Amino acid sequence: MNQVLNFKHKYIPSSDPTNQNTVLLLHGTGGNEENLVPIVEMILPDAAILSLRGQILENGMPRFFRRIAEGVFDLEDLKFRTQELAIFIERASQRYGLLSNKVIAVGYSNGANIASSVMLTYPGLISEAALFHPMIPFVPENPPDLSKTKILITAGTNDPIVNPEETLELHKMFEDYGAEVEVFWQDNGHNLTREEIEKTTNFLSSS
Ligand code: MLT
Repeated sequence: MNQVLNFKHKYIPSSDPTNQNTVLLLHGTGGNEENLVPIVEMILPDAAILSLRGQILENGMPRFFRRIAEGVFDLEDLKFRTQELAIFIERASQRYGLLSNKVIAVGYSNGANIASSVMLTYPGLISEAALFHPMIPFVPENPPDLSKTKILITAGTNDPIVNPEETLELHKMFEDYGAEVEVFWQDNGHNLTREEIEKTTNFLSSS
């Protein structure tokens, strides 16, 4: 584990020197920089992986920003943590020599929400994203230009944490900002399924 940059993180270089993809991996509440790595190794086996641990602890569970209650976010903290993550991405890009690489965010739940927040605040930093069971982190005052961004959202029709209407609103919001967006629905809850992983593999390898 590398603690030189401000986030605890794990960097796994690509085994293929010609591969230009780096996955920015962001866990859900209570996860860490290790637990989603095997999934990314299935989705994009040749990509470099930059996997972070959220800096907030909620009852001992790592998160990427504070919340006041389930689905009610501390927007001041979200803004600060979003900036912190954007700075990390830039510094890590220099440190690991990723400057010309394509940064693909893969995030689950809280990790998907901070990935959306970075895209909405700093368009261009992330070029593609797979967001597993995201919510709307905040609504920007000024519309960002996401016309160069490609996003997959996965959602469950019975997700007890994310209301399907919120998924539809997030989809519309990204589309209104110019992103190429697809939503993959399943008749399931908040858990990550094999079908979502297969869908993400096809989505990310098709660009
Ligand atoms: C989670 O538990 O991760 C949430 O439902 C999403 C969030 O709080 O960002």
